[in-house]
Amino acid sequence: MDSIVVKGGGALSGQIPIAGAKNACLTLMPATLLSEEPLTLTNAPRLSDIRTMTELLRSLGAEVSTMQEGKVLALSCHGAINTRAEYDIVRKMRASNLVLGPLLAREGHAQVSLPGGCAIGARPMDIHTDSLALMGAEIDLRDGYLHAKAQGGSLKGAVIDFPFASVGATENIMMAATLAKGTTVINNAAREPEIVDLADCLRAMGAQIDGDGTSRIEIQGVDRLGGATHRVVTDRIELGTYMLAPAICGGEVELLGGRINLLQAFCEKLDAAGIDVTETENGLKVARRNGVISAVDVTTEPFPGFPTDLQAQMMALLCTADGTSVLEEKIFENRFMHAPELIRMGADIEVHGGTATVTGVKKLKGAPVMATDLRASVSLILAAMAAEGETRVNRVYHLDRGYEHVVAKLRGVGANIERIKEQ
Ligand code: UD1
Repeated sequence: MDSIVVKGGGALSGQIPIAGAKNACLTLMPATLLSEEPLTLTNAPRLSDIRTMTELLRSLGAEVSTMQEGKVLALSCHGAINTRAEYDIVRKMRASNLVLGPLLAREGHAQVSLPGGCAIGARPMDIHTDSLALMGAEIDLRDGYLHAKAQGGSLKGAVIDFPFASVGATENIMMAATLAKGTTVINNAAREPEIVDLADCLRAMGAQIDGDGTSRIEIQGVDRLGGATHRVVTDRIELGTYMLAPAICGGEVELLGGRINLLQAFCEKLDAAGIDVTETENGLKVARRNGVISAVDVTTEPFPGFPTDLQAQMMALLCTADGTSVLEEKIFENRFMHAPELIRMGADIEVHGGTATVTGVKKLKGAPVMATDLRASVSLILAAMAAEGETRVNRVYHLDRGYEHVVAKLRGVGANIERIKEQ
């Protein structure tokens, strides 16, 4: 397995281009199942998760080809399709469950493997299945697969109150409802920018959707959807991650394509920590205000709150802040696995349940560490860039799921980082 070796060093300077959003692309791709006409996605990120979704969609009968070195995805699903999403692919990535809504809407039945365990928590699918049941689907679990069948052959509109603003359930139900008979209302819907991006794409395909970006989304079912060309929204999590690089190491970096409105709550916390963020013509510029990082308390919440997907990276910043910060994780029950690794680098962190208390130390020290999930791995790289000495991050395949060209992007702003290929 490859590893990444980082030598902590000086301040950073230069520009980092931000890719299209992984999480948006992973929900836009299954939208191809809703139409017989082609869907073209531009600004796609080059990531292993995207390749996994490609493999899944091909297994269902979709054609997927890539152009411009993977930045453009051409999807088409005009023939007969297979409605069984196999465990061997689904187990690699939870987002595979996003084919359930579209398959059920198009064919009236689907069998989708449950994704199974995940490093950051149990992540059930009850909100997805309860909602589809309200839309007239009969769903049971057999042999590890959800067997779903629309009564009478097609889904019906329904008023659905989510118990929690689940991102994936909002996406699945929104897609399913585009072809359902009648009107569907989702109350307590997720409001993430990736939901708005999906709604924009579905509208371009002919869907009738209102209220995306608010807690109440209304979808009027239509008979068929057409083709579209859609540009994937900027990856706000990649953006926030790289905004932390100059915050942690010093210097000034411009993030090309960044916008504050994608990350308002995160930018407010950076401001409180003493990090200046300014909008430029091409993106965002980030630098420390006066050399000192101040402690801040952070609670993760659904959008527009502080994103759980930036909690690990924020913790890396707060490890060397002046004072004590409290981080509360409210979305996933087991998302502090980076803490023991940061402690190996000299951080002072105590974890009790969903709360981590981080007391700043003067300097972190390089150490061999283990990446445990996607965002945890990048937090270790950020921490290592400001640590004394050398850090080797093992199990970096997690990183390839969500960060394209991470080594090249960080080297481009002056970081001393390299990938060591396992022979
Ligand atoms: C998406 C993102 C992920 C991000 C998360 C929260 C993608 C591909 N992934 O994941 O990066 O961390 O949003 O912002 O977009 N839950 C249930 N029952 C359900 C569904 C969810 O209990 O049926 C719980 C989950 O266990 C979790 C919480 O709700 O504790 C949030 O999950 P959800 O918003 O659904 O996240 P994902 O869509 O899986």
